[in-house]
Amino acid sequence: MNNLIESINQAVGEALQRVEAAENAADLEQIRIDYLGRNGLFPELSRQMSSVAPEERKETGRAFNTGRGSIQQALDDAGKKLGSDRTKAPKGIDVTLPGRCPRVGHRHPISQMAEECVAVFGRLGFTPMNGPELEDIYHNFDALNTPADHPSRDAQDTFYLPDGRILRSQTSPVQIRVMETHQPPVRIVAPGRVFRRDTPDATHGMNFHQIEGLYVDRNVSLADLKSVLQYFARELFGKDVKIRLRPHFFPFTEPSVEYDFSCVVCGGKGCPVCKNSGWIEIAGAGMVDPAVFRKVGYDPEKWSGYAFGLGIERLAMLRNHIPDLRLLYDNDVRFLEQF
Ligand code: DAH
Repeated sequence: MNNLIESINQAVGEALQRVEAAENAADLEQIRIDYLGRNGLFPELSRQMSSVAPEERKETGRAFNTGRGSIQQALDDAGKKLGSDRTKAPKGIDVTLPGRCPRVGHRHPISQMAEECVAVFGRLGFTPMNGPELEDIYHNFDALNTPADHPSRDAQDTFYLPDGRILRSQTSPVQIRVMETHQPPVRIVAPGRVFRRDTPDATHGMNFHQIEGLYVDRNVSLADLKSVLQYFARELFGKDVKIRLRPHFFPFTEPSVEYDFSCVVCGGKGCPVCKNSGWIEIAGAGMVDPAVFRKVGYDPEKWSGYAFGLGIERLAMLRNHIPDLRLLYDNDVRFLEQF
């Protein structure tokens, strides 16, 4: 065995040891450069071949080729094991794969509609307020002129807690809380979640959302209410939407009305959405009952006001042509991401 073969074998031994100890693709690349690279050890050894005696050349050449081959093989194997071949990436990361795109979410259609309502009323000077979802019976009913034996409590049966509190059945108690803590003039809207003991179907749920409005000042009239609701309808559904008020009953307003939008689907001609009437019921409203003012210590001789309550799901469904309320609550991203 000549010196050159010895050097080759030694180099191969060293290289294989280094491959064994390599921790990442960068280590392997360095080994490749050191031994097989253009200025590496093996090209250098190959240049020494000319000094080998002719009868030893065959054997030396074989040692050279097998040595180089086994280093290359060891590098390839180790590269595969580390998960990336020849790249400088840290262990286990394949930088050639496309990146993972984080999923960007957006507001739920109910939240979008609530925010839009708050924005529209905000332009008319209404301040957003909040009240508790866990309410007491006094604020949810009694203070709103709905005593325990009043039949309208039935329609708003809700969930009762052992401590006597309830899940509010309407956002109207926020009116009371605001008037208890603020002196007139008052001009607020209160969006929020409400609860009822209802069997869920396409238009009812055990929990849904309302936005309440309250305006108290001197000499407020039903005409003021109508103009605000008209503005609201146009902002939401375009300038051609008409509104109409129908007489109704609510314990906390007198007179009380229900108000309708001309059908936003057929424009008032009649279609399945408006049940061929041309109108869609949107919510309740009215002039604040003097009995309510007395409960909060406002002088009904001095102050007058109007209140209204809208269903947010209803508006979101009309706006987005959603046929079934439950779709909004299924949490199916394929449905929600359309809005
Ligand atoms: N709270 C009523 C309901 O849930 C809606 C309502 C009607 C609110 C008349 C009002 C109002 O503020 O004046 O059915």
